[in-house]
Amino acid sequence: MNQTKSALAPQKPLSTERRDIWWLEPALVAIGFGLFIIYATWRAFENNFYEIGPYLSPFYSPKIVLDWWKFSPALLILWVPAGFRATCYYYRKAYYRAYFLSPPACGVGGINALGLSQGKKYCGESTFPLVIQNIHRYMLYLAIAVLGFLWYDAILACIWQNQLRIGVGSIIFIANCLFLSAYTFGCHVFRHLVGGKLDCFSCSQTAKTQFSLWEAVTKFNEHHMFWAWVSLFSVAITDFYVRLIASHSISDLTLIGPPL
Ligand code: FES
Repeated sequence: MNQTKSALAPQKPLSTERRDIWWLEPALVAIGFGLFIIYATWRAFENNFYEIGPYLSPFYSPKIVLDWWKFSPALLILWVPAGFRATCYYYRKAYYRAYFLSPPACGVGGINALGLSQGKKYCGESTFPLVIQNIHRYMLYLAIAVLGFLWYDAILACIWQNQLRIGVGSIIFIANCLFLSAYTFGCHVFRHLVGGKLDCFSCSQTAKTQFSLWEAVTKFNEHHMFWAWVSLFSVAITDFYVRLIASHSISDLTLIGPPL
């Protein structure tokens, strides 16, 4: 009984009996995520070098042009992938640890920021503002729509002057969409959507089909953290590549078809 009490007692911030490098993961998350946010914000406001030939930066896709909108078109669309990632179950854990130290790692004392850490005020994500994280399921629907546009862009990235053209950029665009699909369709919400609400997987043909889908989604879901990071970097790399081409810093190598 006493042991249970002491195990649940609040620890001082950052105090721990762990002897491993527990701080490395939250530190890498803080740096990696922070660098991406800085880069994406700069590119969204730059409002330049986002389109050339058959290539359109994923930060600006789908390109929405409105007469009355005087700012970067990226601002009209980036809130969707940003909101999808910010409410993702994996990223929530990662940035609660890295930025709010709530707690920074298992077995390490945290700060009770936003009511997330141990202590009397613990309330999980059931109160404002964290209850807003529940919009993740709706962000998934929007993110799937945006992913559809990105696949459309990837197909266009293989066509130039009405001919098939494969450049280094085309390969980068397709790889980016594959990584984003692995991340999006490995989403915990999507997994629930395709099969999580079934009580019996073998009771009907529909249930069996759903079970097969659920198994496929589970394969991506098991590595959700991996796909989250790979797709985050691939989006940034794709945008950076378009920027290099559009600003004439480098030229796109043509592998098949007419040159750009
Ligand atoms: S849980 Fe990570 S994208 Fe849905």
